[in-house]
Amino acid sequence: MSTFQAPKGTYDLLPPNSSTYLAVREAIAAPLRNSGYGYVETPGFENVELFARGVGESTDIVTKEMYAFETKGGDRLALRPEGTASVLRAALEGNLHKAGNLPVKLWYSGSYYRYERPQKGRYRHFSQVGAEAIGAEDPALDAELIILANDAYRSLGLRNFRILLNSLGDQECRPVYRAALQDFLRGLDLDEDTLRRAEINPLRVLDDKRDAVQRQLVGAPLLRDYLCDACKAYHEEVRELLNAEGVEYEDDPKLVRGLDYYTRTTFEFVHDGLGSQSAVGGGGRYDGLSEMIGGPALPSVGWALGVDRTVLALEAEGVTLDIPAATSVFAVPLGEEARRVLFRVVTELRRGGVATDFSYGGKGLKGAMKNANRSGARLTIVAGERDLAEGLVQLKDMESGDQVAVPVTEVVEAVRARLA
Ligand code: HAM
Repeated sequence: MSTFQAPKGTYDLLPPNSSTYLAVREAIAAPLRNSGYGYVETPGFENVELFARGVGESTDIVTKEMYAFETKGGDRLALRPEGTASVLRAALEGNLHKAGNLPVKLWYSGSYYRYERPQKGRYRHFSQVGAEAIGAEDPALDAELIILANDAYRSLGLRNFRILLNSLGDQECRPVYRAALQDFLRGLDLDEDTLRRAEINPLRVLDDKRDAVQRQLVGAPLLRDYLCDACKAYHEEVRELLNAEGVEYEDDPKLVRGLDYYTRTTFEFVHDGLGSQSAVGGGGRYDGLSEMIGGPALPSVGWALGVDRTVLALEAEGVTLDIPAATSVFAVPLGEEARRVLFRVVTELRRGGVATDFSYGGKGLKGAMKNANRSGARLTIVAGERDLAEGLVQLKDMESGDQVAVPVTEVVEAVRARLA
């Protein structure tokens, strides 16, 4: 055992499994790249105030889970717990919204940090791929994003996920609902903490996981019945667009998200093989966030998919991604002279775009062939002293086991011909 271990709630991505993570990120990003989203990267930490105002002072993320700290220079910063506030901040700071090209469509991929109680699927350092469409109010944009996430998951081979859909209303209808819900909650037999939450953020109580609370919530007023006409029409159109594309979803009038910025459309992708941490991704509209962080009115919508949980979902469904072997050709030199000759061949193959690896450390034939096997290479080039004296190397097909002698001057061509 080594002296140091990865901090609690974190884990390392190591080969060979790490290639699955790369493939998942790539599969989520591909439909976005294909739909007008540009790549954005923001710092791993931000001014703590950005998240306090953006995500919400009373959310668990801000009150309990944020890695907030003061720098030696006295700046109050936080490791980013999510991407939306940062991406919007960056778009505003870079004046992307003023370029006359709304919506500004951006995608990102990176690490996020939440000081949560770790368990399977819930980590303190995790990875998301996300998309944000900033500055347009159009149900087709909400539908586009849901479709892109759905397509990404399907392209990975995932099937046992569900899309939960809700509308959280806007600044006109939500306050009316909020008051009605508070009235209802005040009449229940709830503990002090929950009653306090009902005063600060009553919608969050709907999300309480405890049976005793859920039982009392049975007759709770639903936002669905309080939506104003504009929100109702908007939501109906999102639903119709999804229906028209054959995207299946479930209306979930109790879906509330753990971040305060949401308005209107909200959705979550849940996977049934993951136990309690079943949300593989989520998102929605955040029409007021720009103003909350000091920008102009910019109605926007986005999502983030959790890479860690998506990998767990693949495992739960028994899906293995078809990841091509990283190495196509493995070179095995036996002796000093062979080492020099093959090193040149390897460099030439690599420069020509053939994924090639080399047996280092002066290994004997047996050990080197073991490495060649493990590399997944289709071809192995073996150069021994006797062959080389005649200007030959052995080219071995690792699948069939067939082996032919090839002039060393022609081996690059021979490899190419066989891989083509
Ligand atoms: P979120 O629901 O907090 O939304 O996170 C999105 C996804 O990140 C979750 O569904 C989950 O898969 C993953 N995730 C969150 N926390 C953890 C954790 N501790 N361990 C492992 N995975 C985790 C957001 O972050 C919003 N910014 C999404 C969004 C973008 N809304 C609008 N635009």
